[in-house]
Amino acid sequence: MPIVNRVAAMQQELTELRRDFHAHPELLYEVHRTAGIVAEKLKAWGCDEVVPGIGRTGVVGVIRGRTNTSGKVIGLRADMDALPIQEATGAPYASTVPGRMHACGHDGHTTMLLGAARYLCETRNFDGTVVLIFQPAEEGGAGAKAMIEDGLLDRFGIQEVYGIHNQPGLPVGQFALRPGPLMASSDRVYITIDGVGGHAAKPHQCVDTVLVGSHVITALQSIVSRNVDPLESGVVSICMFHAGDAQNVIPAQAKLTGTARSLKPEVRDLLEKRIKEVVQSTATAFGATAEVIYRRDYPVTRNHEKQAKFAAAVAAQVVGEENVDFSVPPVMGGEDFSFLLEARPGAFIFLGNGDSAGLHHPAYDFNDEAIPVGVSYWVRLVETAMPV
Ligand code: NI
Repeated sequence: MPIVNRVAAMQQELTELRRDFHAHPELLYEVHRTAGIVAEKLKAWGCDEVVPGIGRTGVVGVIRGRTNTSGKVIGLRADMDALPIQEATGAPYASTVPGRMHACGHDGHTTMLLGAARYLCETRNFDGTVVLIFQPAEEGGAGAKAMIEDGLLDRFGIQEVYGIHNQPGLPVGQFALRPGPLMASSDRVYITIDGVGGHAAKPHQCVDTVLVGSHVITALQSIVSRNVDPLESGVVSICMFHAGDAQNVIPAQAKLTGTARSLKPEVRDLLEKRIKEVVQSTATAFGATAEVIYRRDYPVTRNHEKQAKFAAAVAAQVVGEENVDFSVPPVMGGEDFSFLLEARPGAFIFLGNGDSAGLHHPAYDFNDEAIPVGVSYWVRLVETAMPV
């Protein structure tokens, strides 16, 4: 496989860097150490501009090509944050922070983009400008959105955006993507049910919020099966049900929390509308009241056709056409690269992580063998999009 030679030579150093990030995971916007190292490396390797503090703790690096007759500006993005999970890999470089770990491989994503930065600073074998985007808070904090709101795209003149996420189960040395929806919109649902509490032996004098909550959960499961077109995709999962403190007391209030996902805006609208209707009317049927807060979080991660084709062609340069799946089924996980794809044309691609535990699993680890594959993809993308 044509891994770029110079990139292969960086493998040991990049692996050490990745394992250092892995041992020191940071959450959401609190990625101070990681962002500090990123900024320091970008400066040391000769980036033309290094700007920290975009979107609170995001870092941007700018590298100008040997020439700039094309006027093109391409943004490459990596995420830096970890997860509130207790690590169980047993790796010698395992997390040094209890209850936190890099369980989504963002340590690897950051490392691969740094590797690309180093190569591109050394070679500058392109005609245009590369903007390296290191974002905080991908895991639920919408860090990409924070960077956009802080002027990322206009300030640096970014015209197209590209992102990588590692994919457990996909062999190392393979890529997968698709044009159109690749990952789901991911919204939060907060439900509060108010009834009448009382003695468990006198249910007739109460409005039992445990019973109402149970019916609400059951009824919500009819939305995807009976309201969403069977040929479309949707998920409604209620994952928290909190009520009561005693074995013999009917609680006056119950709180349910969950997530709703879809691959199309019209399905997203339908889920929001039906969740509100079903919760309200079910609660009313039992004499309770309910409040629903539906909070739109990440939109659908939607690859643009032309850029997805281009990304697939670049991946094929690195690993061969037979190792690029251009029709991978979408996944219902969410991803805040979606905000960048709403603002600019671009493509998000999955990179094989081999036979590892799944994302967000305590035994998950980023596969260091994937580093040269990802770095080679980045540098070929730049050199192909903006040839000298
Ligand atoms: Ni992730």
